[in-house]
Amino acid sequence: MRASLFFAHNCFTLLALSTNLMNIRHYLFNGHRKLSLLILFLFITYCAAGQGRTEITLTDNWKFEKDKHEGAGAKEFNDRSWSTVTVPHDWAISGPFDKEIDKQMVAITQNGETTPSEKTGRTGALPYTGEGWYRKTFNLPAVKKGQETLLVFDGAMSEAKVYLNGTFVGQWNYGYNSFWLDVSKYALPGETNTLAVQLSNRPLSSRWYPGAGLYRNVHVLVKDAQNIEQWGVSVTTPIVNAQFSKVNIKTKVNGSNLRLVTQILDKQGKELSSQSAQQAFGNEFDQNISVANPQLWSPESPYLYTAVSRVYEGDVLKDELKTRFGIRELNYQANKGFSLNGKVRKFKGVCLHHDLGPLGAAINVAALRRQLTILKDMGCDAIRSSHNMPSPEQLELCDEMGFMFLAESFDEWAKPKVENGYHLYFDKDAEKDVVNLVRANRNHPSIVMWSAGNEVPDQWGAEGVKRAKWLQDLFHREDPTRPVTVGMDQVKAVMESGFGALLDVPGLNYRVHLYEEANTKFPQGFILGSETASTVSSRGIYKFPVVMAKDKQYDDLQSSSYDMEACSWSNLPDDDFVMQDDKPWVIGEFVWTGFDYLGEPTPYDEKWPSRSSYFGICDLAGIPKDRYYLYRSRWNKDKPTLHILPHWNWEGREGQTTPVFVYTSYDSAELFLNGKSLGKRKKDKSTPQNRYRLMWNDVKYEPGTLKVVALDAEGKPVAEEKVTTAGKPYKIVLEADTKQLAADGKDISFVTVSVVDKEGRPCPTATAQLNFKVSGKGKFKAVCNGDATSLESFEKPTMKLFSGKLVVLVQSAKEAGQINLEVKGTSLKSGKMQLSTK
Ligand code: GAL
Repeated sequence: MRASLFFAHNCFTLLALSTNLMNIRHYLFNGHRKLSLLILFLFITYCAAGQGRTEITLTDNWKFEKDKHEGAGAKEFNDRSWSTVTVPHDWAISGPFDKEIDKQMVAITQNGETTPSEKTGRTGALPYTGEGWYRKTFNLPAVKKGQETLLVFDGAMSEAKVYLNGTFVGQWNYGYNSFWLDVSKYALPGETNTLAVQLSNRPLSSRWYPGAGLYRNVHVLVKDAQNIEQWGVSVTTPIVNAQFSKVNIKTKVNGSNLRLVTQILDKQGKELSSQSAQQAFGNEFDQNISVANPQLWSPESPYLYTAVSRVYEGDVLKDELKTRFGIRELNYQANKGFSLNGKVRKFKGVCLHHDLGPLGAAINVAALRRQLTILKDMGCDAIRSSHNMPSPEQLELCDEMGFMFLAESFDEWAKPKVENGYHLYFDKDAEKDVVNLVRANRNHPSIVMWSAGNEVPDQWGAEGVKRAKWLQDLFHREDPTRPVTVGMDQVKAVMESGFGALLDVPGLNYRVHLYEEANTKFPQGFILGSETASTVSSRGIYKFPVVMAKDKQYDDLQSSSYDMEACSWSNLPDDDFVMQDDKPWVIGEFVWTGFDYLGEPTPYDEKWPSRSSYFGICDLAGIPKDRYYLYRSRWNKDKPTLHILPHWNWEGREGQTTPVFVYTSYDSAELFLNGKSLGKRKKDKSTPQNRYRLMWNDVKYEPGTLKVVALDAEGKPVAEEKVTTAGKPYKIVLEADTKQLAADGKDISFVTVSVVDKEGRPCPTATAQLNFKVSGKGKFKAVCNGDATSLESFEKPTMKLFSGKLVVLVQSAKEAGQINLEVKGTSLKSGKMQLSTK
């Protein structure tokens, strides 16, 4: 949980100021030198006078260089020729895409393969392998004798070796985990410190794009020697009812003769109660505080409280930390399933890989918020961080926006999936990785379950059963309040071995045909669809004839958006819906995946160019595919859904069968083509597709307008939707997710670009090459069109439309003002938009 103190914030502002001045100090004459020293002095005095901690997030002015650099961990090292970057930073996302990068000769056994074959693009065909160095100088306040200095990494990809002022201070192998290092002995208070981090990514170390480098935030924490331990606060709510909640707060401290005062604040910051404790047990305070008439946290009402922990020695404040938490009750029960705050519900979840499409793995709050906003509108209420530890930013957003979270840890245990995967570290590191995952994140109310692993090959054999037990016990030791699952694909094996029976929550990946049997064999009395569907499609691409198919491939390396294609092990969304709707003991699903991600281009693992997934409900640019509306039609209970597919621009298909599907929350509808009725359809249970989609399979194409009219139970029209054949592309149209940005150098506006004809009708097949120009207080950050086969760079201001659309990312500068975006294309009327930052 993030400590965000007003005091620390002020210190940081001053520190940033003095850091900047210190940096330019060398280049200026003596008069300025005096000024900067004065500011530094004021800053130090200010910090020393206050009590508490200072947190500095090291963002700007890092020096970065790819490849080996002898001696780059030293305090003095000539890094002037290195590039200057901002962290979070992903060194690989700039590309270029290259078929040869991390080419893998493997049999993907999870996919049922037995003979190795050449896999290209499995990890995104981006240059993530090799070594990279980051160096950064920063100033530290000189507070007091014995002051504690910690370095906190939210994640570093991977095998991070950390040097402070030339001394090696620690290493962390797993790239997805947070870790901290106590560097008090090596830090130079009141002086310029040099941090150097070496990262190495081995080839054949992942099944998807992992990103590379310092892709999450790096912080420096300076505290008094008497303090609250890092991740030392644990807030739980053991009793929850309408009248009151018992809030239990355990606080680990460093130091003796300390007094702890914990205050609970409501959402507005108003104090609800405060309790002082004198007596620590060992180094831990244990407090129970009652909150009357609690506002319970749920996806629909994500109410957050704050616990403010203050540690005093006598009357002197030594440390202060704010922890956000929620009051909510989780229950997983045989024959009842999952309930939140006493109400039985099923997870309407999606799995998400950690990359953010064109931004790569580099964490960005605006991009994460946009993903969650899109998913919220779909009616999604849960996220699974597949297959690794989430970022703090993602969890904070889930707390605030209302998403339940299944926080996963590993894709491999001791047995390998890829040659250089996590199995290399499992024996040595797994315990400390679990410890950090839990301690760093346990106060997030969004987390409702831990996952100890995904489809680990250890599902086979007695050793694996022991490992599952060992890991689950570790999670329980660290957090007795949440259950543990594993995403299992070897369902027959885990039924036999006892692996599935020992888990708190048996999670099945796919294999709906085995749900019944598993539920009778497993003792828990419920099953979670920990991974479902893996239907493949490309946004706006439709293939004929429309047939249900497995592992279907086409010459253009795309998959059909009629949502009838899956893989040998996977299925269509409708098959999961049947289980969710008909089996009370199925507690929900996590669809593979909410968004397309870099790497794993199944069904084209062996084809080039193809470098990102087809599994997403939304494409890599975040644009919803048709499938989005299928999920929305059953998940979003607040707003109706009425969506027609395909588009209606089929020149050359005149007179040919062109099925029309409607994804809708309504039960029945009538379809019209150019005013002529093509009949009514009503959902029925004859097949899974007839139950969840309205389908007109024998429509003969003619240009014009397709109109669907939704009908209520009495057959009366209640809503309608149209698609019309478009003429020639004429004009570029821009639509931003937000026009108002924070002037913080990080915020992003996602501008969807499309083209329309002279009458303003969207052109769904347009492929024009467009160019982007951004001026004013912002910059062009990236662009993505969602085409898994595109080798165009995400970072160059030009790209082709894919199925008539793409998304441009415009990033704010640190100064307030206007930003202008202009999009141009040959023979097209340009698109212009003004954004502003403040
Ligand atoms: C699952 C696996 C995921 C992904 C998916 C594709 O078996 O857990 O990581 O590979 O298949 O369908």
